Amino acid sequence: MATDRSKRPHTEHSRLPLPATNTVCLSLVLAFFALILASLGMAQESPTVIPKTWDTKAIETFQLPLADSRASAKFISSSYYYSMPVRPIYKSYAVYRPDREPRGYMDQLQRKEPQIVFDSSKLKSEADWTRAGEMVFDAPIEFVDAAETLYSEIRGMNWFVKNGVPVTREGVMPNMRWVVREKGKVELGILSCGGCHTRVMPDGTIIKGAQGNFPDDRTFGYEQRVKEAKAKDTDSLLKKFRSFIRRSYGAPGSWTMRAREQTACLSPS
Ligand code: HEC
Repeated sequence: MATDRSKRPHTEHSRLPLPATNTVCLSLVLAFFALILASLGMAQESPTVIPKTWDTKAIETFQLPLADSRASAKFISSSYYYSMPVRPIYKSYAVYRPDREPRGYMDQLQRKEPQIVFDSSKLKSEADWTRAGEMVFDAPIEFVDAAETLYSEIRGMNWFVKNGVPVTREGVMPNMRWVVREKGKVELGILSCGGCHTRVMPDGTIIKGAQGNFPDDRTFGYEQRVKEAKAKDTDSLLKKFRSFIRRSYGAPGSWTMRAREQTACLSPS
């Protein structure tokens, strides 16, 4: 009904002169906005200022206190945060679904030199920083080598088809990347921000930073089943699985659940 409302003539009421106090208030408010606009204009001209990421005082106010403080998270200090080594970001390459992979692609990757692509000393303009931010967003933090189940599964079609893993119009699975940290060794890079926050749309385009639609639980449950089927020592497999689930979810029940119960939660068969 918005169109009807827009056709309605202005009422006399809206043209009545404002009482004096309101006028004063209004001009104060306008002056305030003018000030904000002016300071925004100034901020745009000043060089890029990088806010401090880990500030102990700010971190203390990060969460509301819990009813039982024993369960509260204890955050690391700012000095510890800044003493950690900075993670290098290596050049990475798209992961194709095997039926869409260009011929000779993996052989080409085998011949690539490792290359560190993030260097803050080279970032000058706002646009440089934006591009670098996207690179950080897509940078994997864990690396899976060729001997592991996930790696071999991704080299075949079953994993994609059985788990309904979406790929882009170009046939790329945007949630993981091939990474060369050592010449001749192509690793599967996982757990980037983009791993969970990239959404493949029905038309095959992607939205970065959205709620992702990579079926993480489903593929994880599937991978665990494949591992179990091949394993000789299922006890040690279960132990690793439990510790991983505990790290990811911290849910007490998961420490004692049997492997089959857990995979059933992740991906109902
Ligand atoms: C393993 C999957 C995973 C990874 C990797 C991941 N996230 Fe998330 N992220 C989530 C999930 C799941 C939520 C929603 C959590 C919730 O609602 O309790 C979330 C929530 C967020 C939110 C809050 C969104 C909102 O609407 O409040 C931000 C911001 C965010 N993530 C940024 C990042 C960044 C930046 C990275 C990389 C440094 C990252 N995430 C890596 C899974 C992930």
